[in-house]
Amino acid sequence: MKIGIGNDHIAYGLKLEIAQYLKDLGHEVVDFGHHNEDRTDYTIYGEKVANAVVSKEVDCGIVICGTGVGISIAANKVNGIRAVVCSEPYSAMLSKQHNNTNILAFGARVVGSELAKMIIDSWLGAKYESGRHARRVNMISEIEERQKH
Ligand code: RB5
Repeated sequence: MKIGIGNDHIAYGLKLEIAQYLKDLGHEVVDFGHHNEDRTDYTIYGEKVANAVVSKEVDCGIVICGTGVGISIAANKVNGIRAVVCSEPYSAMLSKQHNNTNILAFGARVVGSELAKMIIDSWLGAKYESGRHARRVNMISEIEERQKH
């Protein structure tokens, strides 16, 4: 898969490790920054990765900040994004199966790199089940449509 990755200054080190992990798994990684530990704003990278997912430049996204909260909120402001912040693999799996999430977020201050890898494995390994879940996912898109007017 082609995976977009984004992070703030807090998550720079974990981002490097995760990007390498994804490459070792055979994925193509597009790194939207931040590219060092200088103080920055998670909003920038949440939006960049989200835009790349919606435009189909990448297949999905992984975003990391201190908690994963701010960067996932920013990504979720982009129409068509369903970003989930996870600190364990079970929610990551179900978020793909039931909610068809297209961006995974986690926090560099919350999870260690090995747990982060387990969360990623669980998310990338899961498939959207559609079926009874499709109506609700469509309802989420309808909220976005209503917000445009
Ligand atoms: C940056 O200090 C911190 O607020 C950010 O990494 C993130 O945790 C926000 O949600």
